[in-house]
Amino acid sequence: MIELRNVSLKYGDREILDDISLTIADNSIKAILGPSGVGKSTILKLMLGLIKPNSGQVLIDGTDITKLKETELYPIRRKMGMVFQGNALFDSMTIDQNLGFFLRENLNLSEKEIESRVMEQILFAGLEGYEDKLPESLSGGMRKRVAIGRALIFKPHMILFDEPTAGLDPVSSKKILTLISTLKKSNNLGAVIVTHIIDDVFNVADHVAVLYQGKMIFDDVVNKLHESSHPFILSILSDKILEI
Ligand SMILES: Nc1ncnc2c1ncn2[C@@H]1O[C@H](COP(=O)(O)OP(=O)(O)OP(=O)(O)O)[C@@H](O)[C@H]1O
Ligand SMILES: [Mg+2]
Repeated sequence: MIELRNVSLKYGDREILDDISLTIADNSIKAILGPSGVGKSTILKLMLGLIKPNSGQVLIDGTDITKLKETELYPIRRKMGMVFQGNALFDSMTIDQNLGFFLRENLNLSEKEIESRVMEQILFAGLEGYEDKLPESLSGGMRKRVAIGRALIFKPHMILFDEPTAGLDPVSSKKILTLISTLKKSNNLGAVIVTHIIDDVFNVADHVAVLYQGKMIFDDVVNKLHESSHPFILSILSDKILEI
């Protein structure tokens, strides 16, 4: 379980997050929705311990990671797979090599075990036949599926997605959202999805937290969004996409 407790964060003098509290239970999908620049990616970085808040706690399975040293954070980070907005694949490595890279670097596994885990992800992500290709020869949706496979290879409990459908066409977006739902149903995996696309929320999330001007203005089940009278939520429900 991931919990942010009364988290505030400034970059220089600029207050980005103001007393944010947020919980993501295991085996649930929570969307964090907000306009560009509001601090959505910053929240994911806090969850991974890549940055520390000015005040408040970030608890992963009950451990406050704001107090941990860098080396103590490694096993915690492995509980959470991260899928970056731009995928962060290695351009000069094949799909197989991309999938296996962090396993080879971080865990003392036999080559046979690595190959079997890579194959598991190839099959799950529907990438058979593309094992020896470079990322550049794949479509945007397929590259996203490689990034998801690479995040899953450590067998995390939770997976964090930064804008999983940004830049994808509607069909590829739908496939990625279906893949995320499948992860929850068949692998019992929880997910945090940072997005500015309201359709992502309705298509895949159980809960949604809405961030606006540094504050959490909504945090509840997705269906209740329609009951909110907050002007920002009313505007996103009518416009569907948050303008940049
Ligand atoms: N390291 C940093 N130093 C200073 N300001 C930063 C830093 N990282 C982010 N910011 C600023 O903090 C704000 C929040 O950034 P963040 O990337 O979390 O927003 P976001 O909601 O993910 O936006 P987007 O939708 O564009 O991805 C932005 O205004 C950004 O310019
Ligand atoms: Mg961002």
